[in-house]
Amino acid sequence: MKHVFYKGDDQSKPTLLLLHGTGGNEHDLVGLGKEIDGAANILSVRGNVLENGMPRFFKRLAEGVFDMEDLMFRSEELKNFIDEAAENYEFDRDNVVAIGYSNGANIAANLLFEYKNVLKGAILHHPMVPRRGVELPAFADAPVFIGAGKNDHMCPATESEELRDLLQAAGAKVELYWHSYGHQLTQDEVQAAKNWYQTKF
Ligand code: MLT
Repeated sequence: MKHVFYKGDDQSKPTLLLLHGTGGNEHDLVGLGKEIDGAANILSVRGNVLENGMPRFFKRLAEGVFDMEDLMFRSEELKNFIDEAAENYEFDRDNVVAIGYSNGANIAANLLFEYKNVLKGAILHHPMVPRRGVELPAFADAPVFIGAGKNDHMCPATESEELRDLLQAAGAKVELYWHSYGHQLTQDEVQAAKNWYQTKF
């Protein structure tokens, strides 16, 4: 997968896996990753799907309606990519924290739904529930931050709560942060994610 990797100064820190929103690319969230942890490795990936020229991590049938087959295929592709990147760049595969926005948060959430120990934790900015009716692997206290907007048309407040409840029921330690705006990522939300990250990693 197309990506950039920046080696951090402190190899005891997690490697931050950055996953952009629809229409983004591997460069978009690098500044955000550095803001969250300036000493961590950064692995920032571009989604392999194109929707009218806009990169995404998996196909959708309509806004908010996912192509489930592609979601599963792309989740495995991303998981395999992280495994390979850990070997190539020699970082600790067991210490990867995802930071995703929107479509990137959705595939990060699906990695958690699908695979045990695939991520040490995650910061999910404006995620949806990736799938329903599936049994989640046990998370054993994995820390997850969810940033949500009270007026997010893509993701109603009840869906953010549903995602929190599903992750928590599987053992994750979830913090749900609210702002009163829509789908956008605000500076206050980034600050809240950073404060949370500093207490967890
Ligand atoms: C998705 O397709 O993942 C969601 O609708 C969010 C987005 O627009 O990327």
